[in-house]
Amino acid sequence: MSATYTIRLISASATYTVRNDVLRPGRPVTECYFAGDDSKGTFHLGLYKDENLIGVASFMKNSNPFFDPISQFQLRGMAILYKYKGQGLGSLLLKEGESKIKQEGHDPFLWFNARVNAIDFYKKHGYESFGQKFEVPGVCEHIVMFKHFESKNK
Ligand SMILES: CC(C)(COP(=O)(O)OP(=O)(O)OC[C@H]1O[C@@H](n2cnc3c(N)ncnc32)[C@H](O)[C@@H]1OP(=O)(O)O)[C@@H](O)C(=O)NCCC(=O)NCCS
Repeated sequence: MSATYTIRLISASATYTVRNDVLRPGRPVTECYFAGDDSKGTFHLGLYKDENLIGVASFMKNSNPFFDPISQFQLRGMAILYKYKGQGLGSLLLKEGESKIKQEGHDPFLWFNARVNAIDFYKKHGYESFGQKFEVPGVCEHIVMFKHFESKNK
């Protein structure tokens, strides 16, 4: 029987196991609680294979002062369990988040601090990098990436 993949809105706390496995392996789960997780305007997406959560991504209403658009979202905690990498599932999750933020007001815009080893994944989705690389202590080197969208509300 073939697997069914679904993307659902989930709570912040539901993201922690996948964040922990992929982004903070071997570290306390408390390191996977992000500022803004429960803020108004934040939404979390979960990708399920049948009933198993295998990927997560969080979209927070958070403005980066280097950018002008009024409807800024920050992507955080984008993660697909390692055994499911490279099957197009991260792309599905990202596109679903993009589709949702395009419905938010005018001039929708998504930015994030990308791990340098994921830069090419985001470039394939039309994101550009901004500024210099920087180290997130205890994690790895990152760089800011961003993309403007056409609003569905225009
Ligand atoms: C980065 C990540 C979310 C991508 O999800 P994924 O399901 O593996 O990616 P997809 O299969 O949808 O890949 C889409 C395309 O991007 C490419 N790609 C994916 N990850 C890549 C990477 N790290 N480097 C370069 N290219 C990558 C794929 O080869 C594919 O290319 P194609 O369209 O030419 O075939 C996932 O691999 C992951 O969770 N990695 C570990 C955690 C991480 O780095 N998260 C990002 C934090 S900023």
